[in-house]
Parts: sequence; C-alpha cells; structure tokens
Amino acid sequence: MLQLGDIAPDFEAQTTEGPIRFHDWIEGSWAVLFSHPKDFTPVCTTELGAVARLKPEFDRRGVKVIGLSVDPLQDHRVWAGDIAETQGHALNFPLIADSDRKISDLYGMIHPNASDTLTVRSVYVIGPDKKLKLSLTYPASTGRNFNEILRVIDSLQLTAEHSVATPADWRQGEDVIIVPSLGDDEAKKKFPGGWKALKPYLRMVPQPRRP
Ligand code: BEZ
Repeated sequence: MLQLGDIAPDFEAQTTEGPIRFHDWIEGSWAVLFSHPKDFTPVCTTELGAVARLKPEFDRRGVKVIGLSVDPLQDHRVWAGDIAETQGHALNFPLIADSDRKISDLYGMIHPNASDTLTVRSVYVIGPDKKLKLSLTYPASTGRNFNEILRVIDSLQLTAEHSVATPADWRQGEDVIIVPSLGDDEAKKKFPGGWKALKPYLRMVPQPRRP
C-alpha cells in the first residue's frame, strides 16, 4: 500500500495529451494524480468540469494535474466533448487511459470490495521531490471538493516553505502554527516578530506570505 512519504511510483501512460513517463512529466513541480470510476457517468462528468474550471488555481500554485480511469483514449476524447458541453469548461489537463489497469493496480485505485472493475475516486498530491504528500479516497457516489484539494496544497506548500502547519478548518490568510519540530531558538530566527503561545507547544503566527 502506498503511504505518505513514499516515492510515487513511476509509470508510462497514454494520455489525451500524448504519451508520458510520470516522473518526467512531474519535472520538479507539485502534482495531483486523481482517478475517476468511468467515462460517460454523471458525477465524473461534473468532477472533470470542476477541475478544468479550477485549473488556473492549480497553475498559480505550480501544480500539474492529471486524471485517470480505466477507459480507452478514444472514450476520453469523445467524453471530453460532453464535459465541455454540459459543464461549460473544456478539458485543459491530460487524462490517462489505463485500459490494462497497470497504473490503477500500481497505486491501489481499484478497491475490489467496492468494484472489481472500476477505480475509486483517489487523489494523490505529490511534491517536487516525487514523494506522496496526501492521499484520499472517495466512493463513486460522492463527487470530490476540489477547493479542499487546493486548500491542502496551500497548507503543504506553507509547511515546505515556512515550517508552519495549519490548524483545523484553516483558510488562506488565517493564523498558522509553528511546527513542533522547530525549537524556540530557531523559531525566533524564522519569526522575528514573535508568536502567540497558547501553550508552549501551540505557537500561533500570522500566515507567512508566498515568496
Ligand atoms: C458517476 O460518476 O456518477 C458514477 C460512476 C460510477 C459509479 C457510480 C456513479
């Protein structure tokens, strides 16, 4: 089972934007790999439209997005027309055709007790170091909230850049937490304006700005 901190497995794939080798495609960026159960199904159609609408937000954060299902390339291409027509946003990121389920099996995207043949709604957020930073799994019947994926990416990027963590229900602009691994002496150098210690282990600071 793929776990946080593991290197995201590399693979070769056919996509709607041509063949890729995954690690080369990531190329030092952040990346989101997500699966959907099946082309020409209602929830999936809304999800792919939602990701296309949010693509500028992923771009702004330096995040590449790629979708996957076990459908063939030709189905992806025909379905793309339905997505544009019904969701008002045309596909603007690659979709992997994983007809032989090689990648789905590699990542554990097929959960046999849910369905023998279809991928569940998996999301993998991968860092520039190619390590897995987040994974989540939704059932076929529940469309994902891709704004939540953006919120997690904001948190992950703040942690990577500024040694801060984000509290429950945190939103952009709200105070953040100095990570426990940073001692007070080091914290003073990083946060010369100081912090508010609600407890010695709970040190709040204003959200640092993006570099
Ligand atoms: C859907 O996208 O609506 C869907 C896909 C597979 C099973 C159930 C629902």
